Amino acid sequence: MNQEAQSLRDILMPYFVPVERDNQRLIDNKKKIDLGRHLYYDQRLSSNGTISCNSCHDLKKQGTNGAFYLESKNKGATFRDVPTIYNVATLSMYNADGGITNFKQKLKHAFTNPYEMNVTDESLIVQRLGKIASYKTLFKSAFPNSSEAVSMDHIMDALQAFIEGLSTPAPIDSFIQGNDKALSKEEIEGGHIFNSKSCYSCHTGSNFGGQMIQKLGIAEAWPNKKDLGYYHLKKVSAYKMFFRVASLRNVEKTGPYFHDASSSKLWRAIKLMGRHERGLNISEEEALKIEIFLKSLSGEIPIDYIKKPKYLLN
Ligand code: HEC
Ligand code: HEC
Repeated sequence: MNQEAQSLRDILMPYFVPVERDNQRLIDNKKKIDLGRHLYYDQRLSSNGTISCNSCHDLKKQGTNGAFYLESKNKGATFRDVPTIYNVATLSMYNADGGITNFKQKLKHAFTNPYEMNVTDESLIVQRLGKIASYKTLFKSAFPNSSEAVSMDHIMDALQAFIEGLSTPAPIDSFIQGNDKALSKEEIEGGHIFNSKSCYSCHTGSNFGGQMIQKLGIAEAWPNKKDLGYYHLKKVSAYKMFFRVASLRNVEKTGPYFHDASSSKLWRAIKLMGRHERGLNISEEEALKIEIFLKSLSGEIPIDYIKKPKYLLN
């Protein structure tokens, strides 16, 4: 047994449920998932019919879209970076401020949020889809026991079923399950540095984050205070600059980083974390070693699963 590997595993193990693709679930929910996939790509779910979930959470671009975000930001149409849509079903809290703690509720919020689908009248969307014969058929087969074909609840259920399947098992999962070889010597070394800098005290659990809110700038103030995070929801001054600890799955590919997209390089983001969250000066060399470890959190995108439906329903 490799001792360095085992000691890293012992540290990471608590609260860690390895990510797997649950094929049985995919089979059991096939019809709902199919419907959810159509909805995910359909612009008719937005008020003005010009954006879909995929416009921002682009499934081919790691479930995010840096270019679209920057374009919207320049137009003043958004203020927070687009988080990835992969591996979100198991997070404990949602949005940069962690203000929503229930997955279904977050999906509802994605419709009404002016910075997402911006839907002010949900009944319009239901009516719009209800007029489309092939949608009615899809809804009926996904929800055979329901009296109403198209409803907001069914739209949410179907989207939830589809998004729950957007998981990306990574080498780290195989490693935690006992495969020493899943991580290289360098990745294991980086993992120990990640732990020695107390990164894991906040970035904990299966998603290396997504479990709690913490003050951004706890050791040294964060320079950009335009967005005060959780404070906007609670108006209690102790919550100023509290943000959800970001999940680090696929982080290597989901830049730019932080709610304000203020860092485009991962090693730089790591150095900033050391400084602002821990009061530590992490050397570039150490930051690059941590970055190597974080690459073991990257999984394959399920190409077949995310295939855009060939035809647009009408
Ligand atoms: C115009 C861009 C845009 C569109 C379109 C959009 N989103 Fe989002 N989404 C965002 C942004 C920005 C956030 C972060 C909001 C925040 O932090 O306050 C977000 C957050 C989320 C989250 C939470 C992820 C996390 O890690 O907390 C989920 C889930 C989500 N969106 C799902 C959807 C779904 C489903 C749709 C389609 C119905 C959708 N979004 C459409 C931009 C978008
Ligand atoms: C005190 C808690 C805390 C500690 C310790 C901490 N972080 Fe963070 N981390 C956060 C919070 C909160 C965010 C989200 C900030 C935001 O959205 O702007 C974050 C975000 C990040 C991001 C950006 C992810 C993204 O997709 O935007 C990276 C990378 C990161 N942390 C790595 C680390 C590393 C490496 C360490 C150890 C040196 C570390 N963090 C230590 C709380 C912490």
